[in-house]
Amino acid sequence: MKKIQVTSSSLPSKNILSKNVDIIFKTRRLTTNGPLLKKLELKLKKTLGVKNILLLNNCTMGLQIAYKALGVKKGILTSPFNYVSAANAARWIDLKVFFSDINKKSLNLDYKKISKKILNKVDCVVPVNSFGIPCDFEKFNKHLKNKKIIYDAAHCFGLNYKNKSVLLQGHASVISFHATKVFNTCEGGAIIFKKKKDLNIAKHLIQIGFKTDDYKKDNSKLVPKEGINLKMTELQAAWGLALIDRFTKIKNLRKIRFEKYLKYLNKNIVVPNKALSSSNYGYLPIIFESEINLIKCIKKLAKKNIFPRRYFFPSLNKIRHFSSKIKCPISENISKKILCLPLSENLEIHKIKEISRIVNLYF
Ligand SMILES: Cc1ncc(COP(=O)(O)O)c(C=O)c1O
Repeated sequence: MKKIQVTSSSLPSKNILSKNVDIIFKTRRLTTNGPLLKKLELKLKKTLGVKNILLLNNCTMGLQIAYKALGVKKGILTSPFNYVSAANAARWIDLKVFFSDINKKSLNLDYKKISKKILNKVDCVVPVNSFGIPCDFEKFNKHLKNKKIIYDAAHCFGLNYKNKSVLLQGHASVISFHATKVFNTCEGGAIIFKKKKDLNIAKHLIQIGFKTDDYKKDNSKLVPKEGINLKMTELQAAWGLALIDRFTKIKNLRKIRFEKYLKYLNKNIVVPNKALSSSNYGYLPIIFESEINLIKCIKKLAKKNIFPRRYFFPSLNKIRHFSSKIKCPISENISKKILCLPLSENLEIHKIKEISRIVNLYF
């Protein structure tokens, strides 16, 4: 029996990839702001409708670079209903990490629940556009005026809010091009800064403290600034360039499958139904009535070699190394009951019927 995972990576056309790889063989440029990276950067600016974009090796470190570039010094307040990246990336550079509970509908930080006491301890807020559902941007802008706002927009490839890219919100947004995302460069990601000056700081930071074209200069005169190595390679860019033109097709294939799920699953279990239907169809999260049912369902699916994913679980405030004393009952409750079902461009339709039939047994 073929194993079905929560996702199956999108692949570029072998032919186009091979043409891009030919360029690498010709130029012998493997990394450090090479021609393919520059081309991908341009293509992404156009496709996503953004300006100040910095490509790098993954979203987790992109978040960390954004903290550094924007001068976050004290700590961050973030959503406990998230993948651990934003919080771990902050901890890794000794920033304090605080959580505040989420809103049941948006699955994101509820600005009304953010306590003043915690807000005074941080200089940055990191909301998440979970599963591509846009945050309450206006409310965050209004209520968090003197804080840096960095969006964990890992899931937001190709998403708009009021006819503009979701990635234009806050001081920066960070997106993932990981293998499991709707667009990938195998590993990879990008930061989209509001201001060019912050982009320029980040460019140094990901290139071990050197300027973009410093490698062309006499190195006896170069003095690096603070930095780390997070450059995207030419091979990653070659892959991304070969895949990006397939995005509309990939999205449509995912949409067809997403809608099949809506047809076969019991009503109102996909969350939040309305918001996701305008998304990039990256995820298909459902919420069970109890964790017991969720676990039973996972076991039953596993017998058929089908492996959904508990995403996001556990609620991050429950993870020991964050030593969080803050209770986040909504996040804790939803984390226990939410499950992402398999969704990918090549998932067979009859499998969706089978998965839905099994899932429906638990509702
Ligand atoms: C919400 C969220 N943020 C951040 C990340 C980390 O992305 P990356 O694997 O590119 O570091 C992920 C990865 O799945 C994610 O889902």
